[in-house]
Amino acid sequence: MMKNNKIALVTGASSGIGEALSIELIKQGFKVIGVARSKETLDLLQTRYGSENFYSLPCDVSQLDTIQSASIQLQREGIYPSLFFLNAGVAGEIAIEDPHAFDISKHQEVMAVNYFGVIGWIQAWEMTCKAHAGAHFMVTSSVNAIFAPPRGSAYAASKAAISKAFEGLTLTYYGTNLSFSTVYAGPVATKGLKGTVPFTWQPERMAKYMIKCALQKKSHCEPSLFHSVMAHVFRKLPTKWASKILNEIFSKL
Ligand SMILES: NC(=O)c1ccc[n+]([C@@H]2O[C@H](COP(=O)([O-])OP(=O)(O)OC[C@H]3O[C@@H](n4cnc5c(N)ncnc54)[C@H](OP(=O)(O)O)[C@@H]3O)[C@@H](O)[C@H]2O)c1
Repeated sequence: MMKNNKIALVTGASSGIGEALSIELIKQGFKVIGVARSKETLDLLQTRYGSENFYSLPCDVSQLDTIQSASIQLQREGIYPSLFFLNAGVAGEIAIEDPHAFDISKHQEVMAVNYFGVIGWIQAWEMTCKAHAGAHFMVTSSVNAIFAPPRGSAYAASKAAISKAFEGLTLTYYGTNLSFSTVYAGPVATKGLKGTVPFTWQPERMAKYMIKCALQKKSHCEPSLFHSVMAHVFRKLPTKWASKILNEIFSKL
């Protein structure tokens, strides 16, 4: 059973960035605890990489009691991750809002995964990790935490909220054996990305970048210079211009 300290837990391990993270972590000698709802996909990864390298842990992160029971299951088995990639997220088409019918349930659904589905892991592991060798928690945020695009108010709000929470946690736990990173990702070629966007990264490149930042315990990581700069530029533009430019771009996606 996995009882060394080179163990990483990855949420959203069944596809996109989380799957690429899992594969790269295995290559780098980590044992991965893979979390997502799709049990079949996780089980396939476990079969492909071997149960000594990949542990399938089906869990819906929008359910806090499920995060708690999955964590207790690991702790009972003596499995204590030292890295947590809190990456599962509602993104892409599913997070896009209808401009003719504002619906608060979209915000609740997105926040349940992208915000509470992240901090739930910190509540479940804070004491245990402190008492063991410590841990580093990394969240996959977005440049949309800096600038919210049209029809993306819920998504951007969830990423801004989790980024601010991690900023606060970094300072709260400074000097302890718990540390935190926020990755303000630009576009990555996954099913979570809508349309074709310039300077899109491949998930494998993002995975390598994130692992490097996590091992260096960098608290603030902005991988895409172009998209970070653009997000700051759009923030400064008059609303009329920002709206015209972005609505035109999004209508073509
Ligand atoms: N792709 C981009 O351009 C981009 C840019 C910036 C930030 N991000 C962020 O990167 C993260 C990963 O997204 P991705 O692009 O890799 O998209 P993806 O391929 O759609 O992956 C999303 C992952 O999250 C999991 N997930 C969703 N809801 C869940 C739930 N309730 N419980 C457990 N797992 C859940 C999915 O697995 P199941 O469906 O099996 O549960 C899947 O593994 C997200 O947080 C996203 O916001 C992506």
